[in-house]
Amino acid sequence: MAGLIPQAFIDELLERSDIVEVIQRRVSLKKAGREFAACCPFHGEKTPSFYVSPQKQFYHCFGCGAHGTAISFLMEYENLSFPEAVEQLAEQAGLEVPREAGGDDKREAHAPLYEALNAAADYYVQQLRQTPKAVEYLKNRGIDGTTARDYQIGWAPPSGLLEALKPRFTPQQLVDAGLAARRDDGGIRERFRGRIMFPIRDRRGRITGFGGRLIEDGEPKYLNSPESEVFHKGQTIYGLFEARKAGTRLDDIVVVEGYMDVVGLARAGFRRAVACMGTALTRAHLDSLFRQVSRITLCFDGDAAGRRAAWRSLAEALPAIQGLREVRVLFLPEGDDPDSLVRRDGLAGWEERLAGALPLSETLVRLLREEHPTDTAEGRTRFAHAAMKLVATTRDPLFRDQLVERIAEETHLSHERLEQVLSEQPPEPARATASGSGGDLPANPTASRAPGGESPPALWGALLARVLQHPELDWSQPEIRQLVELPGVAAATLRELLAALDENPERHTAGLLERFREERHFQRLMALAHQALDDGEVAVTRQTALDCARQLLRQHYRSRIRELTRPGTELGTEQRAELARLTEQLQRFDRPQ
Ligand code: UTP
Ligand code: MN
Repeated sequence: MAGLIPQAFIDELLERSDIVEVIQRRVSLKKAGREFAACCPFHGEKTPSFYVSPQKQFYHCFGCGAHGTAISFLMEYENLSFPEAVEQLAEQAGLEVPREAGGDDKREAHAPLYEALNAAADYYVQQLRQTPKAVEYLKNRGIDGTTARDYQIGWAPPSGLLEALKPRFTPQQLVDAGLAARRDDGGIRERFRGRIMFPIRDRRGRITGFGGRLIEDGEPKYLNSPESEVFHKGQTIYGLFEARKAGTRLDDIVVVEGYMDVVGLARAGFRRAVACMGTALTRAHLDSLFRQVSRITLCFDGDAAGRRAAWRSLAEALPAIQGLREVRVLFLPEGDDPDSLVRRDGLAGWEERLAGALPLSETLVRLLREEHPTDTAEGRTRFAHAAMKLVATTRDPLFRDQLVERIAEETHLSHERLEQVLSEQPPEPARATASGSGGDLPANPTASRAPGGESPPALWGALLARVLQHPELDWSQPEIRQLVELPGVAAATLRELLAALDENPERHTAGLLERFREERHFQRLMALAHQALDDGEVAVTRQTALDCARQLLRQHYRSRIRELTRPGTELGTEQRAELARLTEQLQRFDRPQ
């Protein structure tokens, strides 16, 4: 099993690769000053707004907002996962990707869980062979042996798994893997009893959980593995690994509701269906699907529950649309699901239906129209307001324009009038980040001005943008070094940036960014890395960053002093010393420089 790719290798890889070369091989670039320009490969355009900076080793499109490093480019352009993009880049650079063998504690700790889940899947498959009524059930539902094998479908007998796994795994490991549950008396019992078993795999093909279906009436019809160290419903997609494995190159993916839908479609020869296991589609699901393909079709039942699900998915999908990404929606006839449809109409019938899926924009209009009929002025007004709330959540400016155009048509309002409503919308609420005075990063960094009396997130944003974009400057000033001691994500980020530069002062922007790919704030850092700075010259850049640092420190000292001097607070010796130190530091700042 492949281990983690060491950070040092990513550093080396980016140093040895040239983003201009990587992109030039796929998109024709023209020199434009210190940068290179092209028509953006991620959205249709006639005049170039896609720029590649050799200095930062970073690309950015002013049209659709696409941006990133050479690794990001390969991920987006070739639809690769991170390790795949690294492999490809390494191949071009003539480097071998080293893997850290078991160097990761977490990985180590999870190994027995994966082993137990694997052993359970083998056991269930073997049990299926010996259980005619289970085989009969699958046959009646049209599932043949090949499909059962491809999806490793099994049978959990009323009891037996624990006996079979006892020699190899401890009771606690079986509980941790979600295969067993604790009894009141402290013993354990099997979770899945008398069920057809569908193993659920992660992107890399490791089994992380199961779904189990009763073959007779009963409750619950499907039982799923509980959340565990290795099974996260909100991020797992059933059938994705199998689809990738079956596939020549995947162009699009269809998201259906159930395990049986995925398996039934595969049986009919349609191998591009996946499911979210009864949970609502999340942003994490969408992101991981969009890493594979640029077109996704979502299927919903024609009933009220299907409509509710469609609304929720629409809200998740709108902000995910960017560049070439496309979401379509298929409403199924009431009382049908993909499994029943494909059995009745065959593969061709299913594909024909699929071709009639609505674009996301039309789905939005249709769902809104059902709630706010547009045959009266009042209805159109409500429609417009509701629609623009949704439009405000989109990221891609071109997609946004298209939506506004469509809404204008529907509501008889002008484009300009609607845009005005849009500008009055409160900005999207910032996502929760770890708080604390050194904590926040701006959710949407647009402020490029030099700061004055601004919020900590804005100050941190302005500071980090400058360090990221100008790693060649000297960032060893005492203010900056003091700042990294503060609590919070932003300070930790700065700490890591400086450590990376201490290690190798030659690092460029892309090299710095890649250290944060796994972090939740990676996208925000990418945005900071290409945000326009109006500093003019580097001396101003440096000074502005230092001003930010001073303000942040000052704010931090002030709030800590306020805490310590709150009426009724008893101070120990240590805290008195801290207070004296803080006051002294603050005075030093407040003295004119
Ligand atoms: P459905 O009830 O539509 O079932 O649930 P289905 O997929 O069509 O299955 P068959 O055809 O009756 O066998 C859709 C999905 O919702 C989740 C499962 O992931 C299921 O595949 N679900 C449903 C549960 O988790 N628990 C349940 O009790 C029911
Ligand atoms: Mn069904």
